[in-house]
Amino acid sequence: MTAEKDWIKDLIIYQIYPRSFCDSNGDGIGDLPGILEKLEHLEELGVNALWLSPVYRSPNDDNGYDISGYQEIMEEFGTMEDWNHLRDACHQKGIRLIMDLVVNHSSDEHPWFEESRSSKGNPKSEYYIWRDPVNGKAPNNWASVFGGSAWEYVPQRDQYYFHYFSKKQPDLNWASPQLREEIFSMIEWWVDKGVDGFRIDAISYLDKPQDFPDSSLPPLPDGYAFPDCLAGRPGTHAYIQEMNRRIYAPCNVLTVGEVSAPTTDELSNYVNTNREEFDMAIPFVPPMVEIDTWSPEKLKNDIWESYQALKESGWWARFFSNHDKPRQVSLYGDDSQYWEVSAKFLAMFLHSLPGTPFIYQGEEIGMTNLKLSSIKDYNDPDTQNRYRQLILSGLSPEAALARAQLESRDNARTPMQWDSSANGGFTTGQPWLKVNPNTVKINVAAQRQDPHSVYQCYRKLIALRKGCSALSRGALSFLETGKATLIALSRSTETETLLAFHNFSQEHQEIPTALLEHAGEILLSSYDRVGGYCGPTLRPYESVIFRGKDGTGTQHN
Ligand code: GLC
Ligand code: CA
Repeated sequence: MTAEKDWIKDLIIYQIYPRSFCDSNGDGIGDLPGILEKLEHLEELGVNALWLSPVYRSPNDDNGYDISGYQEIMEEFGTMEDWNHLRDACHQKGIRLIMDLVVNHSSDEHPWFEESRSSKGNPKSEYYIWRDPVNGKAPNNWASVFGGSAWEYVPQRDQYYFHYFSKKQPDLNWASPQLREEIFSMIEWWVDKGVDGFRIDAISYLDKPQDFPDSSLPPLPDGYAFPDCLAGRPGTHAYIQEMNRRIYAPCNVLTVGEVSAPTTDELSNYVNTNREEFDMAIPFVPPMVEIDTWSPEKLKNDIWESYQALKESGWWARFFSNHDKPRQVSLYGDDSQYWEVSAKFLAMFLHSLPGTPFIYQGEEIGMTNLKLSSIKDYNDPDTQNRYRQLILSGLSPEAALARAQLESRDNARTPMQWDSSANGGFTTGQPWLKVNPNTVKINVAAQRQDPHSVYQCYRKLIALRKGCSALSRGALSFLETGKATLIALSRSTETETLLAFHNFSQEHQEIPTALLEHAGEILLSSYDRVGGYCGPTLRPYESVIFRGKDGTGTQHN
């Protein structure tokens, strides 16, 4: 990262999923004027960047991640004028605007695809990935992420096209120089419109193995297998480098890649500054994998590994939540008895780490998962596919539904809970996805009034980070506590040290005395409602942040 790009280290990014944020016209769908109306919420929180999930023209097969017009605004969300207003209002408030960029695939309703599919000889024939049938069938056994084969037959061409996601999301062919030029000029157009950065969707799959070999991974219950040689190919890194060289580097815009990177080495390939690819990355882990494998110990080890790998030449995106994951308090905390403390605890843990914090809408008030009672009520294509696969594998409908309730991406997509009214103040109409009935208790209006709410905890954390170089830039050390679920860490610069203790369990756990020696003033506690930190024994999900006693950069190793 060049010195010129140091500004990205001071960002605190708030993600909006526009469909579910605020509906201004009563059609039950969130929109741009709705976001504009609520911009003060972001200002009051103190964030300085807004990442907008896609607002482009789209038939909404995957809620906007299937784009049919890259330089147009989705009708339901408003107009380009509304977008211009939002951009100006953000900039007036010192909020950078980060757009989602989906260029691994487009919608099958994009004019490029309509032309490409019409015949073999048309000028956009090569904009997508077409292959002849093999023995009258699809070219290989690859599964698409949202179910079934990754290939779809088109009679006009007597060929199959490749779609890693749904069949309405055909993959763009990055091997075509003409296609790349179209994409680059589209991105430049947005940069010229004043965009400050991009979150770049599903970017690990740009380059395809030209021979498309069968996958040797075990097949899914429907018979197709996920590709074993698609993510992170050298050709993909070359395309990302080209994109960076052409646009991002000269324009000094933020880039956050959404990547498939199961190991730290793979992650580094995208964000080590020497590679000149992205400023930071969001590694994608499927919710079902994360639910089954996460533990405080694994979390800590992963953080440490990527910290070591990138501390000299890289940076981190820090997040627990986004629109592809269940709600963080339901996944890693406790959404019943310890709802409030565990929501604050997760915030305090995340914001005490190095890297740029991301806050996903509703996280700041501790929104929880919503169990829908029938699989038909789920909107997400991923949830529908997982359910089908589980039924095919022999699970009962009840058990498959229980799994969906736990892992569905719709958990994060229920409308924002602004107040305690029936539709949570999200819409005056019929919301496109059910509002969580707990909006009577968990909502912005109530938490704004309450000095000890989750919302106020986020405000304090954000203010703290802004005024404290140890939090934004300090070196990280984990301190040995002898217990996997008691995480102690320090953040220090030459002039300032902070100490944080996080009890990642429902047990009481004592902080070892030696670790408290350097603890000075208490800055924040997840138990502020009941008087805050009160001794070396931490209560369930108790988190406490101290200033280092001598105020110096004491290193604890
Ligand atoms: C990314 C998006 C996800 C979308 C997928 C296909 O993972 O975050 O919501 O379904 O890409 O575009
Ligand atoms: Ca609307």
